[in-house]
Amino acid sequence: MRLFASATGLLAILSVLNTSVGAAPTKSGFEISWEEAYAKAEKLVSGWTLEQKVNVGTGSGNEQGPCEGNTIASPGFPGLCMNDGPTGLRRAYNTSQFVAGINCGASFDRELTRQRGAYMGEEFRDKGVNVMLGPGMNMLRVPRGGRNWEYAGEDPYLVSAIAEELVHGIQSAGVVTTSKHLIGNEQEENRYTVDTVMDDKTLHEMYLLPFYHAVEAGTASIMCGYNKVNGTYACDSDHLMNTILKDHLDFKGFVMSDWWATHSTVNGVNSGLDMTMPGDANADSVTGGGLWYGKNLTDAVERGDVSEERVTDLATRIVAAWYKVGEDKDYPDLRFNYFDSNVHADLNVQRNHKENIRAQGAASVVLLKNEDNILPLKQDSAKKLAVIGSDAGADPEGLNKCPDANCSRGTLTQGWGSGSCYLPYLVTPLDGITNRVDDSVEITHTFDDWNLESAGKLAADADIAFVFAKSDSGEMYIVVDDNPGDRNNLTLWYNGDNLINAVADANENTVVVIHSVGPIDMNAWIDHPNIKAIVWPGLPGQETGNSLADVLFGDYNPSGRLPYTIAKNIDDYVADVSPELEVEYTEGVYIGYRHFDKNEITPLYEFGYGLAYTTYEYSKLKVKTKKNSDGLKLTDTLASASLFVENTGDVDGNEIVQAYIVYPESADQPPKQLRGFEKVFVEAGKKQKVNLDFTVRDLSYWDVVQQKWVVASGEYTLLVGHTSLDIRQETTFTL
Ligand code: NOJ
Repeated sequence: MRLFASATGLLAILSVLNTSVGAAPTKSGFEISWEEAYAKAEKLVSGWTLEQKVNVGTGSGNEQGPCEGNTIASPGFPGLCMNDGPTGLRRAYNTSQFVAGINCGASFDRELTRQRGAYMGEEFRDKGVNVMLGPGMNMLRVPRGGRNWEYAGEDPYLVSAIAEELVHGIQSAGVVTTSKHLIGNEQEENRYTVDTVMDDKTLHEMYLLPFYHAVEAGTASIMCGYNKVNGTYACDSDHLMNTILKDHLDFKGFVMSDWWATHSTVNGVNSGLDMTMPGDANADSVTGGGLWYGKNLTDAVERGDVSEERVTDLATRIVAAWYKVGEDKDYPDLRFNYFDSNVHADLNVQRNHKENIRAQGAASVVLLKNEDNILPLKQDSAKKLAVIGSDAGADPEGLNKCPDANCSRGTLTQGWGSGSCYLPYLVTPLDGITNRVDDSVEITHTFDDWNLESAGKLAADADIAFVFAKSDSGEMYIVVDDNPGDRNNLTLWYNGDNLINAVADANENTVVVIHSVGPIDMNAWIDHPNIKAIVWPGLPGQETGNSLADVLFGDYNPSGRLPYTIAKNIDDYVADVSPELEVEYTEGVYIGYRHFDKNEITPLYEFGYGLAYTTYEYSKLKVKTKKNSDGLKLTDTLASASLFVENTGDVDGNEIVQAYIVYPESADQPPKQLRGFEKVFVEAGKKQKVNLDFTVRDLSYWDVVQQKWVVASGEYTLLVGHTSLDIRQETTFTL
C-alpha cells in the first residue's frame, strides 16, 4: 500500500524499492574454485623464469601505467590493472557513483549490497580493470576517523556481512576484490608510522572478523595497511600474513601492499607479502620505500635470502586469483586511463545501475525523529516547501570539479580521497523534491548557508521548511576546510548548527536533513521544539535526491538503521583519533555500543536505531540448537531461531530484525553482540515468519591460549529487537 499518489512511471520503481531489488546474482558467472584456479596457475607459472615470476608481483611504478597500479606482464599473463575503489571506478567518466560503504551498513540489506557489488564489478570489467581496490572493512572505532564512510560501521558482524556480500557480488562479475586494509588502520593521522597496539582477543574478535568472512567469500586479494600492528609494519608482519591469513584462514589469494606500504624485500616476501604497490623505482616515496621487488627480489633469491619456491608461490597466488574470477576468458581490453580520464570517457558502462543506487539510497535513509508524523509529506496540506542549505544543491562550479572530492561544495554524496569517484550526473535533493511534487506545490530555496536572515524569512513563509547540512571527511593526502582527513570535530560544516536553528526558529514544521560521513554532535539544536523530523541519508551517491524523495513522500517506508552509535556528548565515545605514534586500543572489544552497554551510558541514538512509517510487533521467538561436536566447522549452523513479525500499522514496510547474543560469563564477552539480522518485507496488517541462523563462530569467542574459536558451555540469551536497545523478544538456550 502506498501512501502518496505519484506521477505515472514511479510505480514500477516503487515495487522494486519496497521489496528490495530482485534477486542479485548469487553464483558467479565467471568464478571457478580455488582448486581449479591453482591447477591452471601452477601449469602456467611452471614455465616461467625466476624473473618472470618476480614480475607479476612487481608494480611497474607509480604513474607509470594506465591504472593506479600496474604489474609487469609475463608469458600468457597480462600486466594487471588495479584501481580504486569502494564507491565506484575512481577517476573514470561515464561510470556510476554508488552509495558509500557506510550506507551499505545503514541499509542492513544483503541483497542490495550484493547487487551493488555485482554492478560495480560489471563497470570495472567493462572498462578492463582487473583488480578493484576494495571493499574496505576497517572498523568505525573513532567517530572522527576520516575513512569511516568507506566502511560499514562499528560492529564487526555487520561489517563482515557487508564485506561478504560485496566480495561475492564484485567477483561474480569477474573482477578480483582487494579486501582492505589489514589491519588496525582506523585513523588517518600518522597513518604511515603509527603503531596500532591491540591484544589478541581484540584483534580476532573485532578487527579480523570481516577478513575471515571476506576470505570465506573467496576474496582473491587482501591489502596490508600502512600502519604497524603491535610493533611490526602490517606489510612486514609474518604473524598477520603468514600465520593468520595463510595458515590459519587458509587464504589462497595474494597479499598486496597499500601504496608504498612495503618496507623491505627479504622480510616482506618471507613474511607473506606477494605483491608490492605501486613499485616506485625512486626511493623518494611517501614511506621512504623503493623498488622492493623487481631486481632486488631476484638478487635476494640468488643470494639465498628468499627461496625460489616462495617466489613461485607468490606468482602462483596472483595468477590463480586471475583465473579464479575468470579473467583469462574474453577479458575486455583496458578502456580506461586513470591519469587522463578523458581517454575512453565516452564508454558508458552504467547500464541500469542507477536503480540499485536509488533503491539502496532509499533503503539506507535513517529516520531519526518524526514527531506528529510530519513525514511522509502530505501534498494536500504541505503546499509551500522551503529547501534551505548548500547541501541541498549542486556544486555551483559544476560536476566533478574537485579531483578526488578534494573540496566540499554542494550536496555531499561521498567523502574524499582514493575512495571517491566521479558523478555521471547528480539528482540533487532539491531536484528530487521538485520532481516529486505536482504543480500545486510551491518550492522556494536558498543555498546560502551564511545568510541566516534570508534563510529565516524563507522558512517563515513555508508550510514545511527543510534545512540541509553536512559533515565531510576523507583520506589524509587531502585537506578540506582545514580537516586533515580525520574530522577536526563532530560539528556540522559551513554554519550548519546556526542555519538549523535559524530555520527552526522561523518555522514550527522544520525537517532537518543531514548528509554525514559518521556521527555528529547535535547538541546545538537537538532540543529545538520546532524540529519535527531528522532525516539521515548518509552518503547516497548520484541518485541522492530521488532516494531522499522516495522516503520523504512515503514511496519507500524507511527501514535504514544507524550502523554506529550517536552519543549525547562527544566525551561518551570510548576512543578518539590519537596524535601519538603508538595508539593502544585499550578499550579492547568495547567499541561502539559494546562500550555504551558496558558502562550503562544512554546514547542519543543507539546502534541499529531507525524509525518507520509503521509499527511492528514481534512474537513467538523460539530457538533450536544442534549438538556442538568437533565435527562442526566454524561456518556450520549451531543454533536456529524463528519468530514472527507483524506489521501493525497502515503501510507496508521492511523491518530490520536484529539478533543480539548474551554469552555465558566464561566467554568474557560484551553485554550483548549483534550476531544476526534479517530485512523482512511485511505487508500492512500481515505477519511474516523470520528465521535466523547462528554459526559456530557466531557463538564462539577467541581463546587466546588455545589460539582458536571456542564455544563456551552454558546458557546463552538471545535478544531480538528493532534496535540494539529496543529489544522485543528474549529467550535462552544452552550449549
Ligand atoms: C592508499 C589507500 O589507503 C588505499 O585504500 C588505496 O587503494 C590506494 N591508496 C590506491 O589508491
